[in-house]
Amino acid sequence: MSVDIDVTTLLGRYDEVRAYTERLAAPLSPEDQTVQSMPDVSPTKWHRAHVTWFFETFLLAENEPDFAPFGDQYWFLFNSYYEGVGPRHSRPMRGMISRPGARDVGRYRGNVDDRMRHLLDTLDEGTHVKLAPTIELGFHHEQQHQELLLMDIKHVFSLNPLLPAYAGHTLVGNESGPLGWKAYEGGLVEIGHDPTADGGFSFDNELPRHQQWLLPYRLSDRLVTNGEWMEFISDDGYCRPELWLSDGWTRVNAGGWTAPLYWTERDGIWFEHTLSGTRPVDRSVPVCHVSHYEADAYATWAGKRLPTEAEWENAARLEGDSTTDLANLADQQTWHPRAAGLPDGRLRQLFGDCWEWTSSAYLRYPGFQPAPGAIGEYNGKFMSSQMVLRGGCALTSLGHARASYRNFFPPAARWPLTGVRLADHATTGYTT
Ligand SMILES: [Fe+2]
Repeated sequence: MSVDIDVTTLLGRYDEVRAYTERLAAPLSPEDQTVQSMPDVSPTKWHRAHVTWFFETFLLAENEPDFAPFGDQYWFLFNSYYEGVGPRHSRPMRGMISRPGARDVGRYRGNVDDRMRHLLDTLDEGTHVKLAPTIELGFHHEQQHQELLLMDIKHVFSLNPLLPAYAGHTLVGNESGPLGWKAYEGGLVEIGHDPTADGGFSFDNELPRHQQWLLPYRLSDRLVTNGEWMEFISDDGYCRPELWLSDGWTRVNAGGWTAPLYWTERDGIWFEHTLSGTRPVDRSVPVCHVSHYEADAYATWAGKRLPTEAEWENAARLEGDSTTDLANLADQQTWHPRAAGLPDGRLRQLFGDCWEWTSSAYLRYPGFQPAPGAIGEYNGKFMSSQMVLRGGCALTSLGHARASYRNFFPPAARWPLTGVRLADHATTGYTT
């Protein structure tokens, strides 16, 4: 990670990122903000407090003269997983924290904001240069939690019998057109963060940039749609073990999976729980909330496969910036993937809409070096038993998606906003 920005820019960025978190939480009552619907989900107010704890722990504690924490117990309650910082509250028990309440968390945020602004205002040039990467990491960390906040409240509301909506929004009708393919030559390619193309910031897991060898391959020019997923269901896709990875088949049976996470069938019609309420499944919209196991089984059923993360990134770089222009990210406030529109020669929906499962295990890049100290626990220690996803989703904050970004989730995860792009082998050069 490296950044080179001045104090005024840092202050502006700080206020912008922090205010957006509060705007996302604003439609939610203190009761909404307290519920933890499953161990993977965190309460809204916990997200708001934890990102605040991050700034307090990794910036104020080490740089504020006469530092004293806002509250000793807050360090225990809102440390997520940093062994190097100290003991913490159990993750599956975050929903038990009825106190401090949502308003207390607001006071905590205000206190740390005031102290952070003062710190930034009084930094000398040398300290500014030294701290800028950690401050910028705090921004991107908070953006990750902004997305999680939305994914998590969606799950919370899905278990409320009243099926409340987070925010009303009517999607403009559109179509997806037929699935097309783009072919890539492969060969010796470079992947990993490129400061010139990707901007100054990256997480440590995007480094170092390195070479990989790719055979010729093709990627589908849009995501798999709900309509295509219905064909998979109709062809007994959830009932045929030959389509599934062994662990996936176990999860299908243990979980009783018959459709994507938020789908329910009433009188032969599929309905879908969304952040804008429950509505009939739109056949032209990308399927979402499927696990890696489901994505892989679908690809097998379709006679295709999932892309590797190197294939995805190489294609994204060849597509260039045009794919990010109209990306369906959180700033669009659709809160949901939308139809791809008609083919236009590009890889549609590359950024935004749904995080795209790859067939790549989440592993260290050659030469990967985590940062020293507790902050080095940010990414590296999770490089086991998880799969990489690329591209961003409709809940991803603007400015948080880039070609080298490596998201990761366990292969059985369904509550993230995930979707499917297909791949296969090719023997020719670029065609559409
Ligand atoms: Fe975090």
